[in-house]
Amino acid sequence: MECVTQPDLTTTAGKIADLRARFQQAVTYAEEKAQSKQHAKNKMTARERIEMLLDTGSFTEIDEYVRHRTTTFGMDKARPYGDSVVTGVGTIHGRTVAVYAQDFSTFGGSLGEVAGEKIIKIMELALRNGIPIIGILDSGGARIQEGVVALGKYGEIFRLNTAASGVIPQISIIMGPAAGGAVYGPALTDFVIMVDKTSQMFVTGPDVIKTVTGEDVGMEELGGAYTHNTRSGVAHYLADDEDDAIDYARTLLGFLPDNNLAELPVYESGFEWETTDADRFLNTIIPDSPNQPYDMHQVIEHVVDAGEFLEVQPLFAPNITIGFGRVEGRSVGIIANQPNQMAGTLNIDAGEKASRFVRFCDAFSIPIVTLVDVPGYLPGTDQEWTGVIRRGAKLLYAYAEATVPLVTVILRKAYGGAYIVMGSKQLGADVNVAWPTAEIAVMGGQGAVNILYRGELKRAEEAGEDVAAVRARLANEYTYSVTSPFLAAERGELDSIIEPAQTRVFVAKSLRALRGKRVTPAAKKHGNIPL
Ligand code: HXC
Repeated sequence: MECVTQPDLTTTAGKIADLRARFQQAVTYAEEKAQSKQHAKNKMTARERIEMLLDTGSFTEIDEYVRHRTTTFGMDKARPYGDSVVTGVGTIHGRTVAVYAQDFSTFGGSLGEVAGEKIIKIMELALRNGIPIIGILDSGGARIQEGVVALGKYGEIFRLNTAASGVIPQISIIMGPAAGGAVYGPALTDFVIMVDKTSQMFVTGPDVIKTVTGEDVGMEELGGAYTHNTRSGVAHYLADDEDDAIDYARTLLGFLPDNNLAELPVYESGFEWETTDADRFLNTIIPDSPNQPYDMHQVIEHVVDAGEFLEVQPLFAPNITIGFGRVEGRSVGIIANQPNQMAGTLNIDAGEKASRFVRFCDAFSIPIVTLVDVPGYLPGTDQEWTGVIRRGAKLLYAYAEATVPLVTVILRKAYGGAYIVMGSKQLGADVNVAWPTAEIAVMGGQGAVNILYRGELKRAEEAGEDVAAVRARLANEYTYSVTSPFLAAERGELDSIIEPAQTRVFVAKSLRALRGKRVTPAAKKHGNIPL
């Protein structure tokens, strides 16, 4: 729809009228058009998504008058204002953030020269001013008509993503397709949120896969939200719908500082310094049988303020649990083995999931509380051959490199390399304690007996004795004599043994004591984390 009456541009009133008319065209009419296209697909428009994400009325759009300059393929006949992305700043819980949202209704949200320039400009603004950036992606990828120019803009965006990594929080919300190399933008950000059934990410699509490998796979199975949340670990949250995705992003941001030099947000907590009845529940959570699982979420909920825990990547490698909570109103990162999934063993996926989280928390000065109940690394050729040595080393590296306050509580099992890797004192943790139910040793009783008492077991077998009973007796003896946490406490490897019910208050006191922690690592360009 065009403006009909031409305003008198020789007067101020005419110039303002002209601006209003142009704004109508660039934003109001463009938005109406976008709504008719997107709503038909049950999707919100870019501006609607931004409005939902930000505090009401806080959005200031920029670059709404930008238009592409491409003339090939008849592109000069359609030069919509704003091109295929909406950018600007606003607030979330009153804190300023930068945001961009790709507009699928314009050239399929594809990224050409000027859409790229808009994204780059808002990213640079975020980086310069130390504010988080949230990208909402819904795009057919590089604009096919623009060729290398479009590819180049992706390159610049990736470079900025990398420059911003560890400086400002970067969150990607995928609300449609993200195809080709375009997936690497989100992959370079800190958190990727995907909407069930409406978002897909893949480097090569189903058609190319079919042609090259002969594999038959649908878009959803290949790169849908469920796949990336459960199998690949690309995504950090599976949202039911767009509202849920936005809700998660807003909540997540509430735990994060604006940048790596900013203070963490502090919330009113009414922290209870006495041991409560709820705390005493933890005295009953560890089953008498060492092989019986329990749900680590229950422990976490009894350590963080008001039991509020925002889990990250809950569906990927659920044998380790990561996420954010608050202690005394301040953000903490929680890393905990989950005994009710694969007995809480560590495998490659769990190690990589936790490593990235440790590094995120460390980069943004979020203290880490580690809750340990781990029988060891998952054995098997699959793990060995897919690089459990190389990839498992990441978690060692991440903890050893971290300079944020580290508080570790061993609840039950802490065996072998897994004891060391899960925030042990030797890796640099500040406060390490155990519950009296802890078992710390090179390996579990059964495994140790098979090696230490091989001869005795053989003799028992030859003498016709009940070998299983002999093994169980020896394993128990080993467990009680070698794995007791008091042996570690005697050597000062643990700072104390605490009652489970004391955990919440103990963690809070420890984190208070560590608030002033300062570590100056040796100067180097950067380390060489095993990748
Ligand atoms: C230009 C594009 C486009 C693109 C979509 N459109 N993708 N225009 N460049 N990359 C346009 C379509 O022509 C169409 O225009 C409109 O957007 C909507 O697209 P549809 O195909 O009708 O939508 P839908 O059926 O929902 O399918 C969405 C889609 C499909 C799956 C994303 O459009 C698609 O496969 N697009 C190409 C994906 C791709 O291969 N991109 C390049 C990846 S390589 P009209 O005018 O008809 O409405 C890449 C390199 C990045 O991105 C490199 C970084 C290093």
